[in-house]
Amino acid sequence: MLHTAERNANSWSTLSLYETFISGTIEFMSKRIVNLVYELVDAAAKNPKNIFQYSAFPNHILVVRKFAKLLANKLGADEEICELAALFHDYASLLGKEYVEKHQEHGAKLAKDFLITHGYPEEKAKAVAYCVSVHRGSTRLEKKTLESKILASADAMAHIDNITSVIHLAYGIHQYDTEEGAKWVLKKLARSWDKLMPEAKKLIQKKYNAIQLSLS
Ligand SMILES: [Fe+2]
Ligand SMILES: [Fe+2]
Repeated sequence: MLHTAERNANSWSTLSLYETFISGTIEFMSKRIVNLVYELVDAAAKNPKNIFQYSAFPNHILVVRKFAKLLANKLGADEEICELAALFHDYASLLGKEYVEKHQEHGAKLAKDFLITHGYPEEKAKAVAYCVSVHRGSTRLEKKTLESKILASADAMAHIDNITSVIHLAYGIHQYDTEEGAKWVLKKLARSWDKLMPEAKKLIQKKYNAIQLSLS
């Protein structure tokens, strides 16, 4: 017959095994959904209808993801929601010219449907979709959650951090001449800078100053 202490020890070890199993399962599910979304957006970037070319994925979307995760950790936000929202935020604009103008609306709907179809909890799918729906500064929509504020800042940080994607837009997509292109890049980055939350400004200040020095 087991003594009380042994019984307690056994039940504790059963409990910790159960907890380890649950946390392992949650981690596995989280990685699975992130990988599925990664593959979906990667495939969209390779699609010939993507007018921004494949570089939009590594040079913008993955940079937004890096900053979204960094800010989520710093500010205690939901890292998984920030990561999924970052992967999805410009997804619709990769699907073809007709989706670019309202990519935040199309993207929010596509994100929600995809996540729910793949077994992601509805509340969390809605939180991701919300971030996507308000990420554009030009829409002037209020960002009501910390995760949506983080996505908007990460999006703006990516423009400053990876200036090649903005230069590509200026000269490759809009086809500005040398002077006009430099002015356009500076204006775009100044708008990005204004959108940043204070923590994001601290992280990217040096790069922003360097770009201003070299382009003006
Ligand atoms: Fe966008
Ligand atoms: Fe973006």
